[in-house]
Amino acid sequence: MKYTLWAFVGVTILTLLIDYLLFRLVIQKRQKQSAHFSFPFGAFWHFGMTAVFILSFAILYFLIPLASSSSVYVFFQWMMTVYLLIYIPKTFYYLSYKIIGRFHKVLDKFSEDGKIKKMNDGRYPTISRKKFLSQVGIVVASAPFISLLFGVIKGRFSFAKKYTKLSFPNLPNSFEGLKIVQISDLHLGSLNSNYREMEEAVELINAEHPDIICFTGDLVNNFYEETIGWEKVFSKLKAPLGKFSILGNHDYGDYSKWPSSEAKANNLKGIKEAHGRLGFKLLNNQSSLIDINGESIAIAGVENWGHPPFPRYGNLELASLGTEKAPFKMLLSHDPDHWDAEVTTESDFDLTLAGHTHGMQLGFEYKGFQWSPAKYKFKRWSGLYKEGQQYLYVNRGLGYLGMPARVGMPPEITIIELTKGPIGNDPM
Ligand SMILES: [Fe+2]
Repeated sequence: MKYTLWAFVGVTILTLLIDYLLFRLVIQKRQKQSAHFSFPFGAFWHFGMTAVFILSFAILYFLIPLASSSSVYVFFQWMMTVYLLIYIPKTFYYLSYKIIGRFHKVLDKFSEDGKIKKMNDGRYPTISRKKFLSQVGIVVASAPFISLLFGVIKGRFSFAKKYTKLSFPNLPNSFEGLKIVQISDLHLGSLNSNYREMEEAVELINAEHPDIICFTGDLVNNFYEETIGWEKVFSKLKAPLGKFSILGNHDYGDYSKWPSSEAKANNLKGIKEAHGRLGFKLLNNQSSLIDINGESIAIAGVENWGHPPFPRYGNLELASLGTEKAPFKMLLSHDPDHWDAEVTTESDFDLTLAGHTHGMQLGFEYKGFQWSPAKYKFKRWSGLYKEGQQYLYVNRGLGYLGMPARVGMPPEITIIELTKGPIGNDPM
C-alpha cells in the first residue's frame, strides 16, 4: 500500500508539473492575442483535464484494493493508456520547445539572420520563432504518441521468438537436443478475453515441437476468476515430456483487501487448481524428475521469492528435495532477484528460468544491444545471464500489466535447446 501511495503522489506531482509548465508556455504565446486565455479562466480550462485524471487516479487508489474482480484493473489499464497517450506527448512537446528554443537563441547570436530579415521585402513567407517551435514540438510529440498507439493496437500481440542454445558437460546423453519453451507473466485478467490472439501464441509454440514447456508465473493479476475460459486455449499446448509451472507475485491475491482470510485462501486454491486445468503441473516448492531411457534430469519450482514489496514464499531447500541425484537440474523461479540472492550462492541448479520484469513493456533492441527502463530496476531483466557454471534466462512475458501495450518490447516466446559439451551458449 505504501508503494502505491508513493506512485499516486508521484504521478500527481508530475501531472501538475507538466500542465503548469505548458500553461506558462501557452500564456506566454497567447497573452497578446487572446485576452480570455488568462488567469483564472484560461487556467480553469487548461487544468480541467489535469483535475479529471488526478481525481480518477485518487478514486482508483482507494478502489483497487477493495476490488473483488479484475474489471477494475481493466478499467485502470485503459485509463492509464489514455493518460500516457496525452501526457507523454505533452512532455516531449514542452522539452523540444524549450531545448530547441534555447538552441535557436544561441544560433541567432552568431548568425546573420537579422540582416536577412531586412533584405526580405515580403515576397517570401516568414514564420515566427514561437510558431516554428510549436510546429517542431508537434512533430516531436507525435513520435511517442504514434509509438504508444502502435504498442496498444499491434505491439502487445506481436509475439517474438527468442532462440538460445546452451551446452552443459553434465547433460545426460539421452537429453541431447532437448527443446524447452518458456513463457511467463500471462496476466490473464489483462488479456480480457483476447482468446484468438493467445491461440496464435499457442500455435507458434506448438510449431517449435518443444519437449518441455515451462510457465514461470503470474497467471493472473489477482483473482481466480481471471482464469475462467482460458483452458480451451492453453490446454492445446503440446510437450511430450511435460508442462511445468510456478506461481508469481500476482498469484497470491496480495493486491486486494479480502473480506476474510478464508476468501483469500479460496482464491489462491482456485488459482493453483487452474494451473492443472490449463494443462500445467504446478511446482510449488516441489520438484519432478524427467526420465528418458533410464536417465533423468530434475526440474524444480519455487513459490515467489522477491525483495520487498514483492512476497517471499519461496523455499529453495524444500523445492530442491528429490533433485540431489540428478546430474542436471533446472529451476523455475518467477523473480530473477532470487537467482543472485539464493540460487547462485546456495544451490547447484544448472539453469534457472525467470520472468517478472516484463522488460517494463518498453524499450528497444538492435543487433544484440537492448535497452529498457527495466534495467534500472532489475539487475537481471531480460535474456541470458551466467555466473560461474550456472545460467539464468529472464523471459519478458507473454501478457501485459498496467498499460495494455508493448512498445519495442514484444511478448516473448523463449526457445532453449540443450546440448552436451563444454559449458557455453550460442544464440542459434
Ligand atoms: Fe508479471
